[in-house]
Parts: sequence; C-alpha cells; structure tokens
Amino acid sequence: MSKKILFNFIALVFVCQLYAQKTTPTIKNETDVPSYKLPHLLTSMGGEEIDTPLKWDRLRRPEIHSYFANQVYGVVPGQLDFNNVEVLENEPAALGGKAIRKQVNLIFKKGNKSISMPLLIYLPNKKTKSPVFLAYNFKGNHSVNDDPAILINGKKQSELSRDEIKKFNKNGRGGRTSRWAIDKIIDAGYGLVTINYNNVDPDKNDFSDGIHALFYKPGQKSPAKKEWGSLSAWAWGMSRIMDFLETEALIDHQKVVLFGHSRLGKTALWAGANDQRFSIVISNNSGCGGAALSRRRFGEKVSDINTNYPHWFAKNFHNFNENEAALAVDQHMLIALMAPRPVYIASASQDSWADPKGEFLSAKAASPIYRLFGKKGIEMEKLPSVNTPIHETVGYHLRKGKHDVTDFDWEQYIKFANQHFQ
Ligand code: GCU
Repeated sequence: MSKKILFNFIALVFVCQLYAQKTTPTIKNETDVPSYKLPHLLTSMGGEEIDTPLKWDRLRRPEIHSYFANQVYGVVPGQLDFNNVEVLENEPAALGGKAIRKQVNLIFKKGNKSISMPLLIYLPNKKTKSPVFLAYNFKGNHSVNDDPAILINGKKQSELSRDEIKKFNKNGRGGRTSRWAIDKIIDAGYGLVTINYNNVDPDKNDFSDGIHALFYKPGQKSPAKKEWGSLSAWAWGMSRIMDFLETEALIDHQKVVLFGHSRLGKTALWAGANDQRFSIVISNNSGCGGAALSRRRFGEKVSDINTNYPHWFAKNFHNFNENEAALAVDQHMLIALMAPRPVYIASASQDSWADPKGEFLSAKAASPIYRLFGKKGIEMEKLPSVNTPIHETVGYHLRKGKHDVTDFDWEQYIKFANQHFQ
C-alpha cells in the first residue's frame, strides 16, 4: 500500500470515529436513562465514612477537589497576579443617576506577553459598600445594557479600528439587555461586575492565545493532559477579579455572588469550588460538565461536549467519553464543594440538552453535605413544578421556558442573596 493510501485510510478511520462519537444517539426520554450508581459523597476514597465537617474539610473535600482538577477541568499550572489596574472611567451618576459606573482594565504581564481584562462595574449610588453579582458575559460589556458610555473591549467607539467596529457591532450595544436585569439588581442594592469571557481566554480550540500562553514553559504550545482547559482558565479569571474586588472601597467583598449561564454556569461552579471567597454561587442552565449528573447521559453527554468543545476541559477528561462510570466523581460532588456556602442550581423546562432533571437530582445528591453542616439542602423527592423555587441553603428552580436568563431567574437570585445575606 502506498504511503498516501495508508494516510488517507487512517484519516478516514479517524473522521469516522469522530463522527460516530458525535452521533451517539441523544437520550431524550427518561425511560432511556441507563441505570447508574453515583459515587458516594460521604465516603472517602480510602473507605472512611465522613461524618463531621472537619473530616469533610480535611479529607474528603480536598480529594474530590483534586480529582476534578486533575481529571476534569485541569490544574492551573502556576500563579500570576494582576500587574496593575488602569482606571478607564469613573462616573458617579450613571443609569439616570442611580448608579456609579466604573470601568477598569486589569493588566497581567509575564515575560513579553500581556493580557488586559476590561471590567464593567455598576454599583448602587451610595457611599457605603455594596454586595455584588460577579458574572462573565458572552457578547461584550456593551451588550449587557444600551448605556452608550460602556466601553467596547475597553475602548471608546471612536477608538475602534474598522475590523473591531465590524466585529463588535455584530453583537450590538444593548443586544443582550434581556439577560441582565441591571435595574432590578441596582434597585435591590446590589452591584454588577461583568467582563466578556473571551478577554480571559478566547472560546476556541486554540491554546496559542488567551491566558494559557502566559503560563507556558519554554517551548510549550498547549496545556499538558492534566492542565487547564478553557473552563478552568475562565474560573481562574473570576478569582483574579475577586483579588481586585477585595481592593475596592465600595464593594463588600464578603458578599460577592458568582453567577454564570450555560458554559459560564459550569465555569461559576468550578470557580466557586476553587475559591471559597465567593459567598454564593449560582449556576443557570449549566448542564453537562456543570450541574447535571454525567452518568444519566441525558441530553448532552461527556463525549458530545468533549467532541464539540475539545478545549473546554483538561485532555484527561476525554478518557471518560462514553465511559462516565469510570469517573470517581459525578457533578453532585462539584456542587458539594460549595458547602456550606449557599449554592443555587437553576434549570429551564425546555432545556433538555442541559438535562433539568439531572441538574435537580445532582443538587439533591449534594444535599447530605449541607445536612452535615446543619443546613438544609433539597429534601423534595421529585422535580418541582415549573416556576416553584426552593430556597434553602441549596436553591433550585425549574423555570418555564428555554435555555436563557430571564427576569424570573434574576428575581429568584436577588431574593436568595437577600435571604442569605441578612
Ligand atoms: C452548547 C453546549 C453546552 C453549553 C452551551 C452554552 O449548547 O453543548 O454544554 O452549556 O453551548 O454555553 O451556551
């Protein structure tokens, strides 16, 4: 066989394998969910029963966390603090006077590489510290509200190049207003801190740019198998923003609520697991690799997510494609890593790709650790009816409708935060 034919043959087998993985039938009916056994939350890998918060903190929590870090999301291969903060703007009377708007650039430098993270901050217009929601946005800071003073990627409209205008206009000023209940947030006494997740690591299967590149050893081009994928990089970004929030006089850094939708909901959970400075963590429609139990294989499966988004998780996680039972963890254990802090899992009734029932069961299966801390998790056996929130230390709701973030969701999150901060 000539070399060319052999090469074509191998390439064909490879493409067929990829295709086969992508087309493994999606489970859409509850009756097709395979039977599965979840790994025990409160038994250590060495078989020890975890019956005190101390044993959880000293033994079980670190081993679960380390497993997620090495096998699922990937380890951050070093440390890097922000180099300096460039204040781009500070407007005391934004949003008709009720808010302070501050825009800053966090700048990170290593060797000859640097990254800047442009943040948009709205705070209630008062002289005392405010609790805040911290959240990534998908489409740029200027997409969260039609306030014309919001900088686009840290720049004024007049400073943008032609290419940038094309790129950023596509997403549109105020184009995602419906997902950001800024008025409700400010009126309830909270601030909002947001940044486009692409500013930390562009969401594409390319590890030459973004924050990863600042951490490479000489000659390294992509993360090692147990090192961070993009979700872990985004989670790292949230912690670095937290470092900055701790220095801000008008932000109550003891009351930072981390929020994320979808892939950014997965990010919020992993960031909350890594960094206990976040006092409440909210995952909205996070699904596979977020709140949903992987072993149910309902909707999006591990193999789907690793095939379609090969850069999100550590390469090690690909070993579990079509092999979820081999994982020593499932996603209820990720939720449990928030304990005893309040955590909120939200699903949407038409979002079957994210497996609403799997998200509920996961929140429920995380609840024993809350009980161990003397707090209430999810006691109810069955998925609650739509728009009937449960607000214990573990929160859950199934909103009527599709994969999205709506005013209903925000109303619940504000109520939940009020309840826990009072
Ligand atoms: C895709 C992906 C999900 C993800 C979602 C999103 O649907 O399969 O895992 O949550 O995108 O982030 O919007």
